[in-house]
Amino acid sequence: MSPCRYAFTYIEVFLKKLSLEHFRCYENLEQSFNETITLIDGDNGSGKTALIEAIYWQSTGRSFRHPKSADLIQHSQKELTVFSEYQRSHNSTVDKLGVSYAVNNKKRIKCNGEIIQRQTDIAQQFPVIAIDPNAFLWVDHAPSFRRSYLDWLVFHVKPDYLMIWKKTQKLQQHLNKLLKRELLQDVSLWQEQYAQLAHQVHLLRQQVVDQIQVRFSALAQQFLPTLTDLTLRYHKGWRGEDLHQELNEKHKHHLKQGFITVGIHKADLQCLVNQQPAQVVLSRGQKKMLAVIMYLVFIEIFEHVKPQTAVICLDDIDSELDNRAIALLSDYLQEQKRQLFITTVNAETVQPYFSQCEVFHVKQNRHNNATLHSA
Ligand SMILES: Nc1ncnc2c1ncn2[C@@H]1O[C@H](COP(=O)(O)OP(=O)(O)O)[C@@H](O)[C@H]1O
Ligand SMILES: [Mg+2]
Repeated sequence: MSPCRYAFTYIEVFLKKLSLEHFRCYENLEQSFNETITLIDGDNGSGKTALIEAIYWQSTGRSFRHPKSADLIQHSQKELTVFSEYQRSHNSTVDKLGVSYAVNNKKRIKCNGEIIQRQTDIAQQFPVIAIDPNAFLWVDHAPSFRRSYLDWLVFHVKPDYLMIWKKTQKLQQHLNKLLKRELLQDVSLWQEQYAQLAHQVHLLRQQVVDQIQVRFSALAQQFLPTLTDLTLRYHKGWRGEDLHQELNEKHKHHLKQGFITVGIHKADLQCLVNQQPAQVVLSRGQKKMLAVIMYLVFIEIFEHVKPQTAVICLDDIDSELDNRAIALLSDYLQEQKRQLFITTVNAETVQPYFSQCEVFHVKQNRHNNATLHSA
């Protein structure tokens, strides 16, 4: 275990059963899982990613690879449903969760028979963290990727964050509308309000960044010891202390653009090596290791504040990571009794890194329906 890791007793939460109806290549699937590690292998295009995508989508309301839920509905079908049973190991409670989505209809979410209005309630109660091949480009991605990484963590760590963030977003949209239509009378007032809210968003983000910094330094020393000057820099989205003043100063420019160019939408969490951006300095392997570290930090902070485990989905583990990175990640993830879903094209090469795992093989039949078989 890495030095000064949080010492905590976590409540273990695990996905006991999953049923899919018309989710991508799954016409009908019903499968129970064990509470530790599930390895899913199969040929390319067989439906491995689709399976963990369904688990992630049910919790977060989003896919980690496509923005539109409509794409997830099986071709020539109108509606998809994901049912699941989650168990909490400390008291053996089983929660039944069902999420349906039909094109042009609102999502329907039910938990233990009750209608749930907000997806975020589900994300809070049944957290799923996905580490997909995209995640390994953490350093190279546009700032919006790292911003969502940060925002997702702040959302879980700070209970008020979502509400403040949403208000700020709304205000920003309104402000942009006024600028676009050149309705200048009220702009200054809205700018002031926006600056106040944006400052609150920044403060909450900053507090979580401080937590990230501590764990990042410890893990970076351990796993990338040759990079002695590796630091994280948080940029809040504007330069000085006073966003209102900055908005006023840039007013003419914003009028021309039709939107504001400073604010919470410009925040970033960058990685620096000897004060230079990591994306221009590090090798591909180092960048992936750095991404692994960022996700370990993420999981640690997340579980520390809950304190409960999240279901972790790792997509295409062996195609993206070298042996050293897989060993690091697998050792870390197995320290706690966490439930893991891992996809790979070849379970045999990955299995040695994980003790006590159950292996499933995904296959498509001649009607392109995917099925799962215990290997
Ligand atoms: N909406 C959909 N309806 C039916 N099949 C789909 C849909 N979306 C994707 N597919 C198919 O489902 C399979 C899913 O592949 P994927 O899970 O990405 O495979 P893997 O991860 O095993 O490589 C592919 O064969 C794809 O053509
Ligand atoms: Mg895949």
